[in-house]
Amino acid sequence: MIPYKHEPFTDFSKEENQKALKEGVKLVESYLGQDYPLVIGGERITTEDKIVSVNPANKEEVIGRVSKANQELAEKAMTEAYNTFESWRKVKPETRADILFRASAIVRRRKHEFSAILVKEAGKPWNEADADTAEAIDFMEYYARQMLRIKEGFPVESRPGEYNQFNYIPLGVGVVISPWNFAFAIMAGTAVAAIVSGNTVLLKPASTTPVVAAKFIEVLEEAGLPKGVINYVPGSGAEVGDYLVDHPKTRFISFTGSRDVGVRIYERAAKVNPGQKWLKRVIAEMGGKDTIVVDSEGDLELAAQSIVASAFGFSGQKCSACSRAVIVEDVYDQVLARAVELTKELTVGDTVDGDKFMGPVIDQAAFDKIMSYIEIGQTEGKLMAGGEGDSSKGFFVKPTIFADVDPEARLMKEEIFGPVVAFSKAKDFDHALEIANNTDYGLTGAVITNNRAKIEQAREDFHVGNLYFNRGCTGAIVGYQPFGGFNMSGTDSKAGGPDYLLLHMQAKTTSEML
Ligand code: NAD
Ligand code: ALA
Repeated sequence: MIPYKHEPFTDFSKEENQKALKEGVKLVESYLGQDYPLVIGGERITTEDKIVSVNPANKEEVIGRVSKANQELAEKAMTEAYNTFESWRKVKPETRADILFRASAIVRRRKHEFSAILVKEAGKPWNEADADTAEAIDFMEYYARQMLRIKEGFPVESRPGEYNQFNYIPLGVGVVISPWNFAFAIMAGTAVAAIVSGNTVLLKPASTTPVVAAKFIEVLEEAGLPKGVINYVPGSGAEVGDYLVDHPKTRFISFTGSRDVGVRIYERAAKVNPGQKWLKRVIAEMGGKDTIVVDSEGDLELAAQSIVASAFGFSGQKCSACSRAVIVEDVYDQVLARAVELTKELTVGDTVDGDKFMGPVIDQAAFDKIMSYIEIGQTEGKLMAGGEGDSSKGFFVKPTIFADVDPEARLMKEEIFGPVVAFSKAKDFDHALEIANNTDYGLTGAVITNNRAKIEQAREDFHVGNLYFNRGCTGAIVGYQPFGGFNMSGTDSKAGGPDYLLLHMQAKTTSEML
């Protein structure tokens, strides 16, 4: 077995790679607007009611029309998944892992096509789309290898005349609910983690990005995944989401999305409904309010570069995005001035030709929410860059910086999920860490300093699931920086980490007298 290594990012400064991505775009443009059915037990089911996926950079461009599950179809999918579990759980882990390896190879061959779908459906710039596709490949490669390790079991002691074993077995039917911001990586990663561990899945992708998920279902089928192991049921969160979360046959829910929806799912899943024989497990990855702390003894150019890249990459629509820059007062003005300068150089627009740093935000609701926070920002801080939006053709918001924001202000506490960053001044490094910890979240954070003692202090006291030193706070790599947050950022799970698959399994002890 070749040891795991993450998928390299594409160098788009090379002409041949630009050409490859442009060909991907052409291919995707050739099938824009197609209909996509539900897939339940391998059967294609087309409904009248459709989710229409549009390009957020150009509202007129329809990416696809996707059939929409209702409760009746969700029930059918549950029956399929429940029945298929009986055979799938007995399929050898090696066979399950092989399907992931084959799926990963298919995606690698179609890499630029998948990235082009993300450019069109999620409005990603080329490099961000490429990273999303690479992460999807990584999840498949990494989890397949992890499963091969777990299948060996975990040694336990046996006394003379006794043979004890301790093994992990799958849970049952999992409802996988994914977000639009890593429309490929998180959707695919959460689905394949459940599948390779021997569970069957009902996949409900985000309603803004269902086409990339439909294409991934085709890949899994081509890779040899038996019918009914994954069932594709896009639908309304309120209707299908609640129904599946409440369902007595649901054994676990793997959710990635906002805090409000995550908390709702967690509460509903706690209720034992008639006919239910277990306590449901919930894996929830939720929002963030992520901070870069800049110390007076840090590299200030690196600080400004890191803040700008982490705040505005993919229009700030990452749970890991920097939405707060907390800077020690001696260097505050200098870092702020440089960050403003860098931000003013950023280009915004349709990312299809690969010449824009930032694309649109995902939809009208996101645009309205971000613009309303920009209005709040006018009263809470000093507008230094951006502050404008235009939703006439697509949903574009300029990268925006507010300075001198009070640590307790709404801009510093609430997840905006757009290209808005608040700068706040700290008296010293201790004060900076205190501000960094003052939200309900605990997902990512970064510290820019060259002082070893301060690095160690932050390692102990900066309470986030992913803490980075002397770099930005986005861009965790599967198998290298397992990803997931504390507090209201989730259930403390780590996607792309060595213990992630175990969250989808239960341990069984057997003891045999010899
Ligand atoms: P969202 O919560 O609006 O939607 C996520 C998914 O939940 C979608 O598929 C949606 O249809 C579904 N949903 C909505 N209502 C539901 C209900 N009642 N029952 C079941 N499912 C329901 O989130 P989003 O806008 O797609 O994604 C952005 C959010 O995701 C941000 O808050 C971001 O921080 C978070 N996020 C977190 C991580 C992480 O790893 N911690 C990663 C990516 C995104
Ligand atoms: N894994 C993504 C990042 O680290 C969310 O930015």
